[in-house]
Amino acid sequence: MFTDGFLGYGTSFMLDFVVCALVVIVPVLVTSICLVKFGQRYKLHRLLQTQLCVVLLLAVGAFEVDLQIVHGGWENVVKKSYSDDALFAQRVSEAQPWLWLHLIFAVTTPVLWLITICMAYRRFATPPRPGVHSTVHRRLGWLSTIDVTLTAVTGLIFYYVAFVAA
Ligand code: HEM
Repeated sequence: MFTDGFLGYGTSFMLDFVVCALVVIVPVLVTSICLVKFGQRYKLHRLLQTQLCVVLLLAVGAFEVDLQIVHGGWENVVKKSYSDDALFAQRVSEAQPWLWLHLIFAVTTPVLWLITICMAYRRFATPPRPGVHSTVHRRLGWLSTIDVTLTAVTGLIFYYVAFVAA
C-alpha cells in the first residue's frame, strides 16, 4: 500500500484517493438519477448504481485497512505534519467532532444503499422498469442519495479541518 498522499497535504495515498472518490460520487449519482427521471434509462441506472456500490465498498475497505492497520489511525497521519505536541492536540480535537458526524452518515449509507439495491433487484422486473415497487424505491433511493451526499460533504469537511486548515 502507498504511504504518502498526492494532494499535497501530507496525508496518505488512500485518504487522498477516498477524498477524490467523495468528490466524484455525487455527480455520478445525480447523472444516474437523471437517467431515470428524464430519460427512462432504467437498465443504465441499475448498472451505474450497482457499479458505484461495488467500487465504493472496495475503496472504503482498502481505505480502512490502510488507515487502521498500516497507519494505526488518522491521528498518526495528522502527526506527520506536526512537531509541536500542543498544535497536534489542537488539530485533533478540532477535527474529532467532524469525524463523529461523518461516521453517522458513513455507517448508515452502505446499509441503506445495500437495502435499496437488494430490494430493487428482487422487486423490479428484468429488465428494470416502473412497477409496484416504484413508490418504495423512490423513497429509499432519495434517502440513500441524501445520506451519501451528507457522507461526502462531512468527509470533505473532516479532511479539510484535519489536514488542510493551518
Ligand atoms: C442504491 C442504489 C439506488 C439508488 C440510490 C436509486 C435511486 C433512485 C431514485 C432517486 C429514483 C427516482 C427518480 C425520480 O424521482 O423519478 C429511482 C428510480 C428508479 N430506479 Fe433506482 N436507485 C438505485 C438502484 C436501483 C436498482 C439496482 C434498480 C434496478 C434493479 C433501480 C431501478 C429503478 C427504476 C425502475 C426506477 C423508476 C421508478 C419509477 O419512476 O417508477 N434502481 N432510483
